[in-house]
Amino acid sequence: MALVSAKEMLEKARDGKYAVGQFNINNLEWTKSILQTAEELKSPVILGVSEGAGKYMTGFKTVAAMVKAMIGCLNITVPVALHLDHGTYDGCYKCIDAGFSSIMFDGSHFPIDENVAKTKELVSVCNHLGLSLEAEVGAIGGEEDGVIGRGECADPEECKKIADLGVTMLAAGIGNIHGKYPADWPGLSFETLAAVKEKVGNMPLVLHGGTGIPTDMIKKAISLGVAKINVNTECQLAFQEATRKYIEEGKDLVGKGFDPRKLLAPGAQAIKDTVKEKMEIFGSIGKA
Ligand code: 13P
Repeated sequence: MALVSAKEMLEKARDGKYAVGQFNINNLEWTKSILQTAEELKSPVILGVSEGAGKYMTGFKTVAAMVKAMIGCLNITVPVALHLDHGTYDGCYKCIDAGFSSIMFDGSHFPIDENVAKTKELVSVCNHLGLSLEAEVGAIGGEEDGVIGRGECADPEECKKIADLGVTMLAAGIGNIHGKYPADWPGLSFETLAAVKEKVGNMPLVLHGGTGIPTDMIKKAISLGVAKINVNTECQLAFQEATRKYIEEGKDLVGKGFDPRKLLAPGAQAIKDTVKEKMEIFGSIGKA
């Protein structure tokens, strides 16, 4: 199946009261593990690519070519969107050019009028090309690719301004943070989420910082209109832990245990297990 825009899968998720996971990819093993799990569980999936990860993989064109070829070689039949995560204005155009099927323009650090102007332009480009577009209001806390936010709560009026431009989905800060949550994190602001939902109506909402949010909060967020949840760090931690165990147990020193196909296998399996666990919580299994 060819790459698809995230629009249809997110509208179905919103109506069906579940969420589609966006899992960020870093390399071939990540991509393969996520695609295989989505296919096995018959779940739609969004592959997220940050600008840093795109650069690491040598460029967005390499990423798009790899993902498209892998979908063919693995006979993936579930809907897959290839999505730029937290894109800059220039990054959005690079990904459009490279053949991504979905784009996030993160103008949350701009004054609202500039965020509106740039998002408006990208809405028209993405609509013309049939791509989905995510916009952001209220910076998500934590650190991602050097961008540091404090876990703001978005202004619902500003959310409405951006939603009314016709974006496909909206990421609104509701106290969420990228990376691990600190012990004294007060939790998601459902008050903000409900106020945003009231202003933006039917628009599918996006919850960033999916790592480490307790299941009950995830479920409540879905019930309040969240249809896409982003997970990155949790797959990285699972990969790290499994790889560390393999080496600490000395398995790389036995026979051909140094072969990267063996060395990276436990980490790849750990990513699969994490993605499965998230898909179960998000409710997207069997929804492809
Ligand atoms: P985590 O790394 O906290 O899972 O957040 C991922 C994310 O929101 C990507 O945009």
